[in-house]
Amino acid sequence: MTELNEILLEVKDLKTHFHTKHGVSKAVDGIDFTLRKGETLGIVGESGCGKSITSLSILRLIPSPPGKIAGGQILYKGRDLVTLPDNEMRKIRGNDISMIFQEPMTSLNPVIPVGEQIAEAIRLHQKMSKKEARLKAVDMLKLVGIPSPEKRAKQEPFQLSGGMRQRVMIAMALSCNPEVLIADEPTTALDVTIQAQILELIKELQARLGMGVMMITHDLGVVAETCDTVAVMYAGNIVEHASTQNLFDDPKHPYTRGLLASLPKIDEDRDELYTIEGSVPSAYNMPVGCRFASRCEFAQAVCLEKKPDLIEQSDGTKVRCWMYSDEWAGAKPTEEVFN
Ligand SMILES: Nc1ncnc2c1ncn2[C@@H]1O[C@H](COP(=O)(O)OP(=O)(O)OP(=O)(O)O)[C@@H](O)[C@H]1O
Ligand code: SF4
Ligand SMILES: [Mg+2]
Repeated sequence: MTELNEILLEVKDLKTHFHTKHGVSKAVDGIDFTLRKGETLGIVGESGCGKSITSLSILRLIPSPPGKIAGGQILYKGRDLVTLPDNEMRKIRGNDISMIFQEPMTSLNPVIPVGEQIAEAIRLHQKMSKKEARLKAVDMLKLVGIPSPEKRAKQEPFQLSGGMRQRVMIAMALSCNPEVLIADEPTTALDVTIQAQILELIKELQARLGMGVMMITHDLGVVAETCDTVAVMYAGNIVEHASTQNLFDDPKHPYTRGLLASLPKIDEDRDELYTIEGSVPSAYNMPVGCRFASRCEFAQAVCLEKKPDLIEQSDGTKVRCWMYSDEWAGAKPTEEVFN
């Protein structure tokens, strides 16, 4: 585990909403977290819980309209990105904070050689001649483990395999030595072997370059492999925020416990895995109480009436669940429930 120090990002009560003809979708609805230099923070949760919208909000890449940052702050080294003028924000994007997108072809131009695309990205932020930038691009391709980088730099994205294109994306994201790297499902589109290689590569580069990394994934296996800390998102909120060790050894929120129980276990021979019944409430019509209540077998009257706060526990884990309040009179989860 990396030593954690300087705070790079501080997200405070961030709200990103979409105003559509169906009403207001509260995709991200009041989240708080920090990211320190050298830290890898995992953001996990089911599809639609607000992971990508959180990362796109940080880079101010929310499609607007219909999206809008409706409240809160995103402090990068103390400066609020929410209110930063567009020209200042452009300097931060790609230079200080970079993102690896899930599908590389959406952010690579299919008909321009990859070396040239990386060189262009470098020249956007750094004073360098075309020739110097091209050499740096080849260096970056070498850094991310692409064989024959000089030859590959001259090829167009369609001439490369999926794993290779993902490496190009990483090279591009790292080409300006960002302080913060946001990786949104960086390996979902890849096969298992390449997936492991890419994660190892991000980990290695992070250790070498000391970046803060936000690793967005729906895969708890990826979290266990790569993250120091984890924020579990559910319906636009963080419901548990813990060190990776605490999350796996002593998960607290019933949703987190459900996610862990639905992981396949190597030493067990079971036909069916645990599944969390039901579905995430609509972002257009969130319940007033706990957003997980309709799927939670421990729900009590209080859970339906009032929304729980995210409260820090004695082991440092923060959890948003009435069960961890002093007044709780209902049952508490036992391991058997989730097996
Ligand atoms: N253009 C849009 N218009 C309206 N609502 C939107 C729009 N884009 C996103 N949303 C809302 O934001 C919610 C969160 O989406 P987000 O992409 O952040 O989910 P996610 O956690 O990244 O899911 P996945 O695991 O599938 O990538 C969606 O459920 C949707 O309601
Ligand atoms: S607050 Fe209540 S409904 Fe929500 S997760 Fe906790 S026990 Fe379940
Ligand atoms: Mg997403």
